[in-house]
Amino acid sequence: MNIHVASRPAKSRPEDARDAFAADVIAGLTRHPRQLPPKYFYDETGSRLFEQITRLPEYYPTRTELGILRDHGQEIARIMPPHAALIEFGAGATTKARLLLARCKIGAYVPVDISGAFLNGQAAALRADFPDLAVHPVVADFTAPFNLPRAVQDMPKVGFFPGSTIGNFEPHEASAFLRGARDILGEGATLIVGVDLEKDEHVLRAAYNDEAGVTAKFNLNLLRRINRELDGDFDVAAFAHHAVYNREQYRIEMHLVSRTARTVQIMGRGIAFRAGDSIHTESSYKYSVERFQALARGAGWIPGTTWTDPDGMFSVHALLARK
Ligand SMILES: C[S@@+](CC[C@H](N)C(=O)[O-])C[C@H]1O[C@@H](n2cnc3c(N)ncnc32)[C@H](O)[C@@H]1O
Repeated sequence: MNIHVASRPAKSRPEDARDAFAADVIAGLTRHPRQLPPKYFYDETGSRLFEQITRLPEYYPTRTELGILRDHGQEIARIMPPHAALIEFGAGATTKARLLLARCKIGAYVPVDISGAFLNGQAAALRADFPDLAVHPVVADFTAPFNLPRAVQDMPKVGFFPGSTIGNFEPHEASAFLRGARDILGEGATLIVGVDLEKDEHVLRAAYNDEAGVTAKFNLNLLRRINRELDGDFDVAAFAHHAVYNREQYRIEMHLVSRTARTVQIMGRGIAFRAGDSIHTESSYKYSVERFQALARGAGWIPGTTWTDPDGMFSVHALLARK
């Protein structure tokens, strides 16, 4: 299989990735408030759990965004230059890209994801389902610069960033990401971004506190991953999943809250928790269409068409790279 491992050379070896993970975990758990980067949710188990989340009745974003892409597929197809390379940041299960691939004349598809094993499985499935499509998966952390595969360098580029993954960034990080994407995609590029919208708090809270407990499992998998990969000894059952809406900041916050006082060992280092101590594991910012367009404008993109669903739950934005 044709896999491109594209992060900067210093991050491309598994032991470097483990060192970076260890450094981020120790730094995040020893500062106050404690916080871990959400990108570490996505080992293979985390990617599978996220897929289960997308099918939950309470989790409206995936089915709503898919509805927008279906309802406005023809208009979206019209803004895609023929035979462009479609570059998806954080491709996951590639469900939304499949919709575009079925409707548009795409020259090549470049799914980019940090979750390497899961990505490679999805790329193999895509090749089987779209035998004429050139698929070039790239295992990379999209918060750092990376190179696109040589095969697509001369093609027109369309970036695709669905799932409101942009909402997991702090606003200044979202702005940095948009600037970086502009550099990677180049002049003349289009970027299609899915952005979750502000809405009734009850709907938001339910989406991150599903009855089946899958979001809790996804959140707690981060501690299991630390135990597996960093010689940790978290007692996972001693932590509770909390998801709350922070109205002032327009964001859902996910936390893991320690039920007990205990010192946890990670790579031989002791980190003390008191009962009630919290680790902030993810934010999911909600935007208005105008606030997102202002963010995009400030990061070098010209807002084009924005599509929303009839209930105004979710938005899909077409952005054009400013010269
Ligand atoms: C919220 S999921 C969205 C998945 C899919 N695009 C969708 O719309 O359902 C975020 C995806 O981005 C990937 N991801 C998260 N942080 C990343 C990073 N820093 N670099 C590359 N991929 C990342 C995850 O592995 C996951 O597949």
